[in-house]
Amino acid sequence: MSIGGDPPEPRPEHPDQTRACPIRRETPVGEPAFRHSNPCTVPRTDKRGERVSSTGPAGTKVEHVAVPYMIWHRERHVAESFVMGGPAMGGSERDPADAQTPAKENVMSQDPLHTKLCDQLGVEYPIVSFTHCKDVAVAVINSGGFAVLGEAMHTPEEIEADIKWIRDRVDGRPFGVDLVLPASAPAEASLDEITSKIPESHREYEQMIMKKYDVPMPKEAVDLHQWGGLNQSLGRAQLEVLLEERVPVIASGLGSPAFLLDAAHERGCKVWGLVGRTRQAKRQIEAGVDAVIAQGFDAAGHTGDMGTLSIVAEVSAIAGDTPIIAAGGITTGRHLAAALCLGASGVWTGTLWLACRESDVDMIIKERLVAASADDTTWSDSISGFTMRVLKCPWTEEWKKPDAPRPLESPYQMILSSDYIQGANDGRRADLMTEASGQGVGFVTEMKPARQIVFDMVEEALGTFDDVVGLPE
Ligand SMILES: Cc1cc2nc3c(=O)[nH]c(=O)nc-3n(C[C@H](O)[C@H](O)[C@H](O)COP(=O)(O)O)c2cc1C
Repeated sequence: MSIGGDPPEPRPEHPDQTRACPIRRETPVGEPAFRHSNPCTVPRTDKRGERVSSTGPAGTKVEHVAVPYMIWHRERHVAESFVMGGPAMGGSERDPADAQTPAKENVMSQDPLHTKLCDQLGVEYPIVSFTHCKDVAVAVINSGGFAVLGEAMHTPEEIEADIKWIRDRVDGRPFGVDLVLPASAPAEASLDEITSKIPESHREYEQMIMKKYDVPMPKEAVDLHQWGGLNQSLGRAQLEVLLEERVPVIASGLGSPAFLLDAAHERGCKVWGLVGRTRQAKRQIEAGVDAVIAQGFDAAGHTGDMGTLSIVAEVSAIAGDTPIIAAGGITTGRHLAAALCLGASGVWTGTLWLACRESDVDMIIKERLVAASADDTTWSDSISGFTMRVLKCPWTEEWKKPDAPRPLESPYQMILSSDYIQGANDGRRADLMTEASGQGVGFVTEMKPARQIVFDMVEEALGTFDDVVGLPE
């Protein structure tokens, strides 16, 4: 599992990264429809061999049309009831004066993918990649999306170096860094102190698993021992770097970031908080966070038990002007379109990037992800003490057994699981390894370049809006 750890040396940029987006930038408005047969958007099969298509009924042969969605709206002047923010979606009525607006401006203002999140960040697409891999982050940022680098397992010095590494490659474009700031973490506690509080019964159970599966001992320093959630002072030291470096977006994946709002805003940093409950969102919105990530049960990593559909809709309904970013199980353009229809201003995605070409995730895990469907994931508190969605592995399954002790709270369970997790990774034991994975993993079927993932998602989302409103004759 790679929640943390220093990614390997940067790989050369994929040639695709120099290409402009074929969807928006290169197709002049008014040109004949740009049709193509991208394998992502023609009818295809999922991992169970069933037809999946965003563009037509199962089995029909459909050429996907993305840019024409805009062209159509411009030409037919019928857009406002169909696009996000229009009356049909619960948005405000269009100012009648807009009817006089030149056609091209109409087109831009009706772009369903141009949301207030895009305005907040100055980015083209409302797609946020959460990743631990700097190469993935840079590829997404340079493709018009936004990326947040997970740094919760890194020392302050490593975080500083990673921020510089990204800045050197994104030409001034914004990016974010994610930490975990759980209020439940002890204020100050050494590794030995935490370890000494683990009950003997739990140690014995861990040892039983280690022996039963012949789990190798870690070869490298254990990543999880750097986890910012182990104690408050570790998390604070990481946070100091983000403030000093004036990172454009500081995200908290665990724990409310309300306490850092003043310090962050003074330095021009935006603050985002990730929530699994509507009441948490309400508190954060009232405190003044700049965006809330509403994440559902489907998600990879730490997540609550409220479904994505429910939490995104509920949080969007109370958000006012605060952008809501939907998370949990989002791996296709149809998910993106659906999230926008629920009232979100963008999507926050993790699993989607794990198997991409730039990703530094072990090839063993990439292959498992490409083959996996939602059934291969499980929701378990046996790894960190917080409920978390990961690929099933012997560790998660052993802790579900009726005779297993009840997993400990964080951070004790995290320390207890750390030798298994890292030993499995260092030994490259396919039978033991796990990784955080969301229920949308069934649609991760190829190891595509990150840039291609962004474009496919954009195109498929636009195609989905086409489907909903119907294509012009
Ligand atoms: C491999 C992996 C590691 C993750 N580690 C973290 C983490 O360290 N901090 C965090 O806030 N979220 C972490 N997450 C959760 C993501 O931020 C995100 O909320 C989640 O992936 C969204 O669900 P999805 O994977 O279904 O898109 C991780 C996700 C994955 C896939």
